[in-house]
Amino acid sequence: RKPLRIAIAGLGTVGAGVIDVLQQNAEILAKHCPRPIVVTAVSARDKSKDRGLNLSGVDWVDDAAKLAEHPNVDVVVEVIGGSEGKAKELVEKAIANKKHVVTANKALLAHHGTALALAAERAGVGLAYEAAVAGGIPVIKAMREGLAANRITQVYGILNGTCNYILTQMRETGREFADVLAEAQKLGYAEADPSFDVDGVDAAHKLSILTSVAFGVAVNFAGVRISGIRNVSAMDIAYADELGYRIKLLGIGRQTPHGIEQRVHACMVPAASTIAKVDGVYNAVVTSGNFVGENIAIGRGAGRGPTASAIVADLMDIARGFILPAFSAPAESLEPAAQAPVGLH
Ligand code: NDP
Ligand code: HSE
Repeated sequence: RKPLRIAIAGLGTVGAGVIDVLQQNAEILAKHCPRPIVVTAVSARDKSKDRGLNLSGVDWVDDAAKLAEHPNVDVVVEVIGGSEGKAKELVEKAIANKKHVVTANKALLAHHGTALALAAERAGVGLAYEAAVAGGIPVIKAMREGLAANRITQVYGILNGTCNYILTQMRETGREFADVLAEAQKLGYAEADPSFDVDGVDAAHKLSILTSVAFGVAVNFAGVRISGIRNVSAMDIAYADELGYRIKLLGIGRQTPHGIEQRVHACMVPAASTIAKVDGVYNAVVTSGNFVGENIAIGRGAGRGPTASAIVADLMDIARGFILPAFSAPAESLEPAAQAPVGLH
C-alpha cells in the first residue's frame, strides 16, 4: 500500500496533536484507512524547542513555504494560523504544486476561502478544513454529506470554545473574565491573539465558512455583524440566570427574503433549551433543513485532541481518494452572498 506522505507546518497545540493521533491510533488507522499516513516533513519557527515529539526520520524544513515543493510530500497540513503571511504563502504554493491541503485555519479560509477553493479545483487537489469549524464536531462533513439533500434555512450555534469556557466558568465559579481567559490560553483553546476569541472574530470566521457551505454562496466574512463577550459581566450572567436564561455567544446564519444574514453576538437563551446546556469548551451547531428539520451536533470545539481528530479524518478521506469540492458546490458556481440589510430582522 502506497503511503500518503504528509508535511505538517506548525507544531503547536494542533500540529503536535496530529502527530499524537497518527502515532497513538496507528492501529485504528491501519484498520480504517486504505493507505498508511506517514509524516515525512515538518516545519515550525523554532527548531530547538523541546516539543516532546518523536520526529526521528522526519525532515525538518526551516522555511514552511518550502514544504509546498518538497518531493516526498503529497499533502500539506497547515496549522500555523493567520489569514496572511506564511500560512497563506504555503497553502497557495502547495495548491499550485498540486499537493492536497488540510488546514484548521479558519482565518485564512474566512478571508481567502473561495479563491483557494477555486485554485484547488483547478489544480485537481483537495482543500479540506473540517478542523476549522467547531473543532472535533464533524460539522462540515455533516453539512456537505449527511444534510446535502436539504435546503438549509438556518445554521447557528456556539462556535467558540474559549468564550463558552469563559462564560461557563464565570457562571459556575464566579471567577473573573481575565483569569478564566488565561486558563483557556494555557489549555490551548485560545487563538494566538485571544482578542479574536473574546471579540467574536473567531466565531465570525467560522460562521462565514459555515454559511458558505450551508447556503452554497461565496465566503463573505465582511458581511458578518460581530460583537464579543468582553462586556458581559458576572452581574449580567447572574441576572440572566434569575430570569431563566443562560448567556451564550452565538453565531447565526439565516437565509432571509433579503439575503443572508450573518451575525455573532452574546444571546440570552432559555435555560431549558439544549444549547443552554452546552457548557465549557463544548460547541454546538444547530442546522435547519427543509426535509430533515432541526439537527444539532455537540462536541468539543477546541483543544489539541479534538482538533487533531478532525484533521486526521480529513487525511483519511484523502487517503481513500474521497475529495469533494471545498465548499458545497464547485467554487466557480458559488454565488456571491447577497447580504440582508442590517436591522431588518
Ligand atoms: P499554536 O500557536 O499552538 O501553534 C502554531 C505553530 O505554528 C507553532 O508551532 C509555531 O512555531 C508555528 N509557526 C508560527 N509561525 C510560523 C511560521 N512563520 N513558519 C513556520 N511555523 C510557524 O497554534 P494552534 O496549534 O493552537 O493553532 C494552529 C491553527 O489551528 C490556527 O489556525 C488555529 O486557528 C487553528 N485551530 C486551533 C484550535 C485550537 O484549539 N488550538 C482549534 C481549531 C483550529 P513555534 O512552535 O516554533 O513557535
Ligand atoms: N480559539 C478557538 C476556540 C479554537 O476557542 O474555539 C477552536 O477553533
